[in-house]
Parts: sequence; structure tokens; C-alpha cells
Amino acid sequence: MHDKRPEVLKITDLRKNFGDSRILKGISLTVRRGEVLVVIGPSGCGKSTLLRCLNGLEPADGGEIEFLGKSLTGGKTDWRLVRQKIGMVFQNYELFPHLTVMGNILLGPLKVQKRKREEAEREASEWLDRVGLLDRAGSYPRELSGGQKQRVAIVRALAMAPEVMLFDEVTASLDPEMVREVLDVILNLAKGGLTMVIVTHEMAFARAVSDRIIFMDDGLIVESAPPHAFFRNPSTDRARKFLNIFEFEESVRGKEEEETETPEGDSPKDDPPKNDPADNGKTGV
Ligand SMILES: Nc1ncnc2c1ncn2[C@@H]1O[C@H](COP(=O)(O)OP(=O)(O)OP(=O)(O)O)[C@@H](O)[C@H]1O
Ligand SMILES: [Mg+2]
Repeated sequence: MHDKRPEVLKITDLRKNFGDSRILKGISLTVRRGEVLVVIGPSGCGKSTLLRCLNGLEPADGGEIEFLGKSLTGGKTDWRLVRQKIGMVFQNYELFPHLTVMGNILLGPLKVQKRKREEAEREASEWLDRVGLLDRAGSYPRELSGGQKQRVAIVRALAMAPEVMLFDEVTASLDPEMVREVLDVILNLAKGGLTMVIVTHEMAFARAVSDRIIFMDDGLIVESAPPHAFFRNPSTDRARKFLNIFEFEESVRGKEEEETETPEGDSPKDDPPKNDPADNGKTGV
């Protein structure tokens, strides 16, 4: 049944180097319409690089990316156009500080897509309502919390009516109490059938939101499996080790939540793993 859905992205043997370092070593992956893929893997394995190649922020060094049947890797791609259809939200929301929430959201639809203000504004309001921020339309970014800003960043990408959304660690720099509100928005987008590729270290969320988990290590896809199969019984040692670290951290976090007002500094005491999620995004460039 899955196979009948049209292919939104088809990645074949994608390669990316930085200098002498081979970062993506041959990634092949198909994303079908309505599918939600979650990409997980240790810090530095190439997750962000993969997403950045998909919307042209990094040029690929080999292989092919097709978007709705058209090659993006042939050299003549108008990435500005493509980026309207392949939306991306990063860890650090970059809203324009001098524009209101509504101003930020309307920039793309009005300036890039030349849409009518009235219609674009109506749609933007609908999106803001759906993420619980309609009453903040006139606020400036500095007046918002991190979670609110990140929800605005998501709406800003959605306002371009993308075909697929790429999310790279969108909750990584948020305080824990704000993580949930952003993840809820993405869960609702998944329910609405939006095609998404999500990089996250939030394992419970990954399990809940995804149709498929893509586990990467060292520039390659090591496993690709439905979430229940992946989390219950990963088929490689590398994935098992990776999950063990997270189970440990989640159990620590669970304990912390039981005790109200736990002081900080209660982090896991064993060897800091290479892929310490607390470190994520800060070391990965
Ligand atoms: N612009 C760049 N120049 C040089 N090296 C880079 C660049 N961007 C990424 N790298 C390197 O490529 C590798 C993969 O980085 P990437 O950011 O894709 O990892 P990641 O899987 O997203 O990690 P994290 O979970 O920490 O975000 C890392 O070794 C990183 O240092
Ligand atoms: Mg990254």
C-alpha cells in the first residue's frame, strides 16, 4: 500500500565531503507523500548534512536527489524556488527581530510568492490559531518564549505551502517545558498528512510521530524500519548501543520528573557518550 504513494524525494547514493572527510558516503532513501521519516543517529553521523543537501544549503558531491520526479542535482536547480516547496526549520529559529510574528510569516508569501495580502494573512492566521499563537500575531520575536518562536518559525515555513518539511533538532535549544508544545505541533502536522523528514533526539516523540525510523551512523543508513520494530528489536549492534544510551537517559529523566523541583546537575554519571544529546547541535556544526 505504501508503495502506491507518489515519491516526493528520491535520494540515490548521495555523497558529501568536507575537505578530505567523507561525511555522506552513499545515502539512498525514498520519501513518499504523507510519510513521516525520523532520522536518528550519533552526533556527527551526517543527519544535518543530509537535510542541508536536500534543500541545497550544501551542494552534493555525488549521487542524485529527485524532488517530485525532477533532479535537483543536475546543476541547474533554482534552489530559491525549491526551498519554498522543501521547507526547513532548524534548531535556532531565525526570525527577523524588526518584524512582528505576522510580518515574519507573510514575508515569503508576499515577497517571494507574490500572493495577495488578504488571502496570505487569512491563511497565516489559521496556522497561528492551530499552533495556539493567534493572539501573538502582533508581537515581536523578543516578546516571545523560545517555544513560541520556534512555533512561529514552523508556521513561517508552512505558509509557503511546502510539499515536504525538514526539521532539524527543532527542540534542541528549548527549555524542557517548551519542548512539548513544539513537538505537539509537529505531531498534529503528521496527523494532517504532511510529508516530513525529522531529525530528533527525542526518542518517545520519534516513536510516536514516525512511519519509519532511519538510523544513520558514520555517513550511512544502517537501519530503516517501522518504529515499533526498530525500538523493540533493532537489527544492528550500533543501533542497539545507541538506544541503550537513550533508555538510560530517559529513565534518569523519568526519575527527575517524579521528584518535583529536582536541582540541576543530575545528569548521567557514566562515560559521556560521543553522541551525548545534551551536546547535540553545538558540536555538530
Ligand atoms: N560546513 C562544514 N565544514 C566542515 N565540516 C562539516 C561542516 N558541516 C558539518 N561538518 C562535519 O560533518 C560531520 C557531520 O556533521 P552533521 O552536522 O551533519 O552531523 P549530525 O549528525 O547532524 O550531528 P548532531 O547530532 O551533532 O547534530 C561532522 O563531523 C561535522 O563536523
Ligand atoms: Mg545535526
